Amino acid sequence: MPERALVLVTDRPDRSAAVGAALRAVGSCEVVGTDEAWTARGSLAGVVSDLTLSRPEAVQCLRALETRFKGRNLPVVCLLRNATPDSLRHAKTLGATVCLPAYAPPEAVAAALANQIDLAPSSPARVVSQGVARAGEVLTSLMAEARSGQPVRMGTVEAGLAPILAAVQDGGLARWLDTVWTHDDATYQHCLLVAGLAAQFALHLGFKQGDQQRFVRAALVHDVGKARIPLAILNKPGRLDPDELTVMRTHAALGYDILREGGECDALTLTAVRHHHEMLDGSGYPDGLSGDAISDVVRLLTICDIYAALTERRPYKAPMAMPDAMAILAAMEGKLEARLVQSFGEAVAAAR
Ligand SMILES: [Fe+2]
Ligand SMILES: [Fe+2]
Repeated sequence: MPERALVLVTDRPDRSAAVGAALRAVGSCEVVGTDEAWTARGSLAGVVSDLTLSRPEAVQCLRALETRFKGRNLPVVCLLRNATPDSLRHAKTLGATVCLPAYAPPEAVAAALANQIDLAPSSPARVVSQGVARAGEVLTSLMAEARSGQPVRMGTVEAGLAPILAAVQDGGLARWLDTVWTHDDATYQHCLLVAGLAAQFALHLGFKQGDQQRFVRAALVHDVGKARIPLAILNKPGRLDPDELTVMRTHAALGYDILREGGECDALTLTAVRHHHEMLDGSGYPDGLSGDAISDVVRLLTICDIYAALTERRPYKAPMAMPDAMAILAAMEGKLEARLVQSFGEAVAAAR
């Protein structure tokens, strides 16, 4: 099989050398500048852009690339030097399929590109991109209904569950997390992270198929109450002040009310939405439940939720590594069930 043809387009070839070297593990990689004549190129398997997107030459170059390969689903990993939500959106409009901060290790850049290429119909990358897309659609309509005050239609959620489980089982949790990180809305990113982690946990624990779906369902909708939290609080970078925190914390009870108004009857989903911030020692919210009053499924979801919050990727901060996040969960003994935290660590470590 001929080697995959890759291109690294950069406006700082000296500093991009390490990325170029890492990409050679994925395919034959040519390093080019913004003056690349894409029209003269044959097929490409993938592109990494290491460009300053505020420069007109960079924009022109990526637009020309997009025009040349239109309709081909060319994977384009965009390294962001100034990673803000705006630059993430800008990169996507220029054809980026995955965005990473410029400080990402070269091997992570190569892995992100490798995850994106080879999108044959049954390829793991395709299964994951379809699962993320389906789950994203479901979440979009659910949150829009919740925000508008209309009754939410939980029936639409069902269509997202099997694709999430298939994506994590056949495509691997690592690909799921990589793909979800490219979502530029923090709440969507978080809900999709929690859903993927819940799928991995349920598969690892050997849940029956119906139970896997019920758990992933609860995970996907657990923060539906955030649809009614003001965006200035929801999307505030950095820490919330005490008043903002009080407002933010209403999302658990709000979510429960939203689902009840929509006619939701599934006790597991209702309890998961209301109680996913309760702690075994009674220090959680909204009802200060403790010990046996918190069901096993809620305990599992709370672990996925905290891990997702710790390891989420934001343009303005480096992600926390898995061992550091697991150490924080382990230090929450008394609040979280240690046996389940350990099992969750095994589930994540066993993931591809
Ligand atoms: Fe929450
Ligand atoms: Fe959450």
